[in-house]
Amino acid sequence: MKRILFVCLGNICRSPMAEGITNQLLQDLNLSQSFTIDSAGTASFHVGKSPDSRTIEECSKNNITLNHKARMVSSLDFEHFDYLVAMDQSNFKDLVAIAPADSKHKVLLMGDFDSVNPGADVPDPYYGTQADFEIVFEMLQRACNNFLFTLNKG
Ligand code: 4NP
Repeated sequence: MKRILFVCLGNICRSPMAEGITNQLLQDLNLSQSFTIDSAGTASFHVGKSPDSRTIEECSKNNITLNHKARMVSSLDFEHFDYLVAMDQSNFKDLVAIAPADSKHKVLLMGDFDSVNPGADVPDPYYGTQADFEIVFEMLQRACNNFLFTLNKG
């Protein structure tokens, strides 16, 4: 069993989208039983809320249903998850800051798995338009796919 936590700032736009995309990919690969997927935010503003309507819209266009309520990441998550995947450099720094000393290696950057722009941040679409959510969706689809492929090789 591998456990993955996707992390962004608010846990209503990017990380629930990454969670939904990954769950869908795992279902297509018949690997759902081998993974636990979740998402969380580094900030508390939206705790308890459903994903942003534009994230729901982008996922629904791609036949992905989301079933998540926003929550904040905590240092306890490092006990439960094998990988904590940050959407951008700011999330990455915040995660490393709360990681127990022996768990800092669990923090990964989503953009490192994007073949088109390796190492790039997944841009925060919150103050953008639906088109920005579409760009995020495409980037996450590539990166989540490559991430799962990398895990399955190892
Ligand atoms: P997320 O997007 O981190 O991808 O969920 C954001 C959601 C809310 C805010 C910022 C980013 N906010 O400032 O409220």
